[in-house]
Amino acid sequence: MAEKRESLHGQWSGRWAFVLAATGSAVGLGNIWKFPYITGENGGGAFVLVYLICIAIIGIPIMIAEVMLGRRGRRSPLNTMRQLAREEGRSPHWQYLGWAGMVAGFLILSYYSVIAGWALAYIFRTAAGTFTGVTADGAGSIFSELVSDPERLLAWHTIFMVMTMVVVARGVRSGLEQAVRYLMPALFVLLLVLVGYAMNTVAFDEGLSFLFNPDFHALLYKEDATGVERWTWEPVLTALGHAFFTLSLGMGAIMIYGSYLPERASIAKTSVVIALMDTLVALLAGMAIFPIVFANGLEAGAGAGLIFQTLPIAFGHMPGGAFFGTLFFILLTFAAWTSAISLVEPAVTWMVENHGVNRIYASVWVGLATWLLGIGTVLSFNLISGEEYQLFGKTFFDLLDFLTATIMLPLGGLFIALFAGWQMRRESNLDELKMGDGVMFQLWFFLIRYVTPFAVVLVFLNAIGIITF
Ligand code: PFF
Repeated sequence: MAEKRESLHGQWSGRWAFVLAATGSAVGLGNIWKFPYITGENGGGAFVLVYLICIAIIGIPIMIAEVMLGRRGRRSPLNTMRQLAREEGRSPHWQYLGWAGMVAGFLILSYYSVIAGWALAYIFRTAAGTFTGVTADGAGSIFSELVSDPERLLAWHTIFMVMTMVVVARGVRSGLEQAVRYLMPALFVLLLVLVGYAMNTVAFDEGLSFLFNPDFHALLYKEDATGVERWTWEPVLTALGHAFFTLSLGMGAIMIYGSYLPERASIAKTSVVIALMDTLVALLAGMAIFPIVFANGLEAGAGAGLIFQTLPIAFGHMPGGAFFGTLFFILLTFAAWTSAISLVEPAVTWMVENHGVNRIYASVWVGLATWLLGIGTVLSFNLISGEEYQLFGKTFFDLLDFLTATIMLPLGGLFIALFAGWQMRRESNLDELKMGDGVMFQLWFFLIRYVTPFAVVLVFLNAIGIITF
């Protein structure tokens, strides 16, 4: 049995604190902003089905593995991997997994913060009553006006980055637990209010059927620039990537939160609860948004602006809409905030551990670098949005998103699965998971050894066209 370690950076006050923090990390823009827009772009129900399967057979086992590795190592992901590799008698190169995770977190936060800035901007627009009685066209032009103005986007991005780094500098535990404890349930209730509004639109059934009726043709065929339909595997890869993104997996965020987890807490049960809550929030967001999309004759595949073009219509027409709308965007900002914090935590803890600097110093430097890169995303919605600035038909923002969420997170997850399943001794897994050697452990061990790596590799090989069905 490994000696019992304490994290240098503190511990959660209990299992609940971990559940709250990890849920705070998981539930964020990914659920409310990204899930609806990529579902809309990828044809609806079949995409949702693939995403749900990925959560169940890939996401949950990897979450269990990440929390377990984190708790066993009790350090920043990089040092945790180095330590565990040494203990298990494996190659020290496993530490590069920690490196890749830090880089992924840094890249993701650079654009995450820009989108969170939109949510911040919308707090003030809704509070000012800008959306009262708004039409679909009106909501669309208010959104375009915002994103076409680099100065405003930069200002909001700056404010959000400062907010994030202030919390990170103070240490994640102070404040975070409280924020999540009250704000997450409130966000949930507001989503229910929005679903209630959607139920009263003429297109509730249409919205639900878009979301839950799988149409594989819509998933796997897309029109190219010339209007010809072509077979594509990219949406499946996107669904896989999103399962990682939404659960904050594959880059060490959940690993570092696991490192603050008290000894006794049950890792498997906790992970399942977090994954279920996260999925529920995403599905509710979809149920609120698609009926509004169809009732107003909008385009489901409108892209990254989807929720900012649809939800204001609901707020503009429901009783008390300005109040609910303001509250909603405040809560969305909070949800984004609690996720953003976890994106930089691996890098900041690593700097503290390996470079002898304090948290404040580490936060300032990581924050500055992230802020700087974020300017690329700011500009990719306006000054450099044109085709001449695109690569493979993707803007700077799209490329970053693709590189991180679709490539880096699933690959990170794959290596986490390989490490837990094939490099850790079975006894080490058993010792840390503390769930006994029963059916549940065996199921997890089977999934993490065979199913999860196989599924990720298969989706990737298909994507690069090596095997095709
Ligand atoms: N899970 C977050 C969301 O859904 O918004 C995003 C995220 C946070 C991804 C932390 C990755 C991560 F490590």
